[in-house]
Formats: sequence, C-alpha cells, structure tokens
Amino acid sequence: MPDSLILVTGGAGFIGSHLTDALLAAGHRVRVLDNFSTGQRSNLALDNPRLEVLQGDVADAALMRRAVVGCQAVAHLAAVASVQASVDDPVGTHQSNFIGTLNLCEAMREAGVRRVVYASSAAVYGNNGEGVAVGEDTPKAPLTPYAVDKLASEFYLDFYQRQHGLEPAIFRFFNIFGPRQDPSSPYSGVISIFTERALAGKPICVFGDGEQTRDFFYVADLVPLLVQALTQAQVASGAVNVGHNQSISLNQLLAAIGDVLGRLPAVTHAEARAGDIRHSRADNSLLRERFQLAPATPLQDGLAQLLGRA
Ligand code: NAD
Ligand code: UD1
Repeated sequence: MPDSLILVTGGAGFIGSHLTDALLAAGHRVRVLDNFSTGQRSNLALDNPRLEVLQGDVADAALMRRAVVGCQAVAHLAAVASVQASVDDPVGTHQSNFIGTLNLCEAMREAGVRRVVYASSAAVYGNNGEGVAVGEDTPKAPLTPYAVDKLASEFYLDFYQRQHGLEPAIFRFFNIFGPRQDPSSPYSGVISIFTERALAGKPICVFGDGEQTRDFFYVADLVPLLVQALTQAQVASGAVNVGHNQSISLNQLLAAIGDVLGRLPAVTHAEARAGDIRHSRADNSLLRERFQLAPATPLQDGLAQLLGRA
C-alpha cells in the first residue's frame, strides 16, 4: 500500500529518522510528530513533499488526536530514550514515555486507526537475563522508571488490542546503534559517545568495570523490520525481541573501536549507574520466525561506518 500516510512519533530522532527515510523511499507519505527534545530537523528530508512535520508533544492529547487523522498506521518511537534520564527525572520522563502512549491509544481508538508499531525495550527484563539470552516469556523486572513506563505501555497496548481492536506490533529493542544517534549528551547511547570521543582523541568514561554486556543491533538492520510490521496484512500478538543473541562487553567494544581506529582510546572509570543492567542478550528465535531478517551488519562494520573507516 504505497502512498498510505504513516505517523512516526519521534520521527526526527535517531531510529525515527531512518524509518522516515525508508518509508518515503518506499512511496509512503509520512507525518512526523516530534518535540525536537533530542531529535533534529536536520535528520529529516524537509524538502520532500510527502513529508509533513508536526512540532509538539505526545503528552498533548488534543495534538495526538489531530496527528492520527487519515493515517494508515503509526510507528510510536517518541520517548526519552535514556534510562539514566528517567532515573534523574521520573515524573518528567513519564509524560513522554507513558502518557504519550496512552494518548496515542485513545487517539487511535477514536479515529479508527489500528496498526501501531511500538518501540519497547530490553530494559523490561531487568537483570533476569543474567548470563543467558532472554526470551519474551522471561519474567519482567523493570528496574527504572524508563523500564516501568515501557512495560506499562505494552500492557496498555495489549488492553486496547483486546478491548478496541488495535493492532499493536511490539518490539523490544536491545541496544540499537548507528549514524544519527546523537552523542552530544551524557544521556546518549554508549556507542555514539565512545566513537565520537575516540575519534576526537578524548578519554572515554566507563561506568563500572566495563564488564557489563549489551546486544548491539545496527539501525539499518532494524528499519526493514519496522516497515514490515507497519505494512504487513496481519500482526501476531505479543512482544518480539530485536537483538542478535550476542553479548559484547564495554571492554570488548573499546577494543573493537581500537581495532578500527588503529589505536586504543584512553579510558577512565566512574561508579556504575543506578539501575544499570549488568547483562543483556536477546533470544531472537521469535523475531526470526515472524520477520524476514537481512544479513546482520557485524559490529565491526557498524563501528567502521561511525568512525569514517568504512
Ligand atoms: P532519540 O532520542 O533519537 O529519539 C526519540 C525522539 O522522540 C526524538 O526525536 C525526540 O525529540 C522525540 N521525543 C522525545 N520525547 C517526546 C515527546 N514528549 N513528544 C514528542 N517527541 C518526543 O532516541 P532513539 O534511540 O531513536 O529511540 C527511539 C525509540 O526507541 C524510543 O522510544 C526509545 O525508548 C526506543 N528504544 C531505543 C533503543 C536504542 O538502543 N536506541 C533501544 C530500545 C528502545
Ligand atoms: C539503551 C538505550 C535504551 C534502550 C536500552 C535497551 C539509549 C540512550 N539507551 O539503554 O533506550 O531501551 O538500551 O537495551 O539509547 N556507559 C558508559 N559510559 C558512557 C555511557 C554509557 O560506561 O559514557 C554504559 C552504561 O552505564 C551502560 C552501557 O554503557 O552500562 C550502555 O548504556 P546506554 O547506551 O545508555 O544504554 P542502556 O542503558 O543499555
């Protein structure tokens, strides 16, 4: 269904802007709703006549009602993406990360828009995956306001599915990285910060001993999954992990950056962050069963892109 109108909340951000590009390239019309708190206009193809930009907040219920009108589907990515920011400001982040989802559900119910792709997170598992790959049925243990809001949003989407026929496709992203992930704040994603500082020859600060692990997933491998979920005829219910079932420690990440650059970055250490998950690794069998996966971009190749060595 090319030419359909798709709402992308958070469309000016890292993941949202790549999704917006892909949807426009596939012939869709895209309405981006963003408050530009971390997203940027420069991430968007503003001269494309099939792109419409609404500046505003997902916490604004009236705006959300206007935003969904005429849409075939919604990708709900707007949120404060930093776990640490939610620890520092639970009330403020709750407006974006939970109230925004609820406003969207209500707006979609009223307008009769059904399909919504939701960016949930591996954070919902907390430390229950210690040392193993977490499957979707692993008991949830949200450790931070961020994780609580993601899990509560999942539950609300599930309620609106049962009660009002919404068609949510819920993805639990593990650690997504790639171009346009903004490195400029201490709240930014670790790879964006590490690669920017390594390139500039500045020391990198590791919180804790660097032995915590993450399952890193390149953004260009994620976008086709989101497009499939937005446009396929039906979605099966239940959340789906997005990861590679690979765990990389921060110390391994630093070594990989050193390999690409040909020199090891200087490292300092600070105390581990409160609520920081120790090990995070996805069992991705459900993802492989339900979606067509492109060959995975190796971490080294993704790093080479970011470090200008590709
Ligand atoms: P990002 O910060 O680049 O994108 C978030 C976008 O949402 C930004 O453009 C920001 O301006 C916008 N936004 C924030 N609050 C808003 C509000 N109240 N109203 C309107 N717009 C608002 O981060 P990202 O990494 O692209 O994350 C996108 C989504 O994916 C988020 O929901 C995040 O929680 C989720 N997620 C990201 C990762 C990851 O590793 N990057 C992993 C799991 C889940
Ligand atoms: C990330 C995402 C979050 C997502 C989750 C899913 C961001 C900002 N966060 O959270 O949206 O839901 O993955 O798994 O995209 N670290 C350092 N030094 C730094 C920055 C970070 O040592 O300068 C450490 C952190 O303490 C943490 C690890 O790196 O142990 C990863 O941190 P971060 O990139 O913020 O990601 P998550 O908290 O895993």
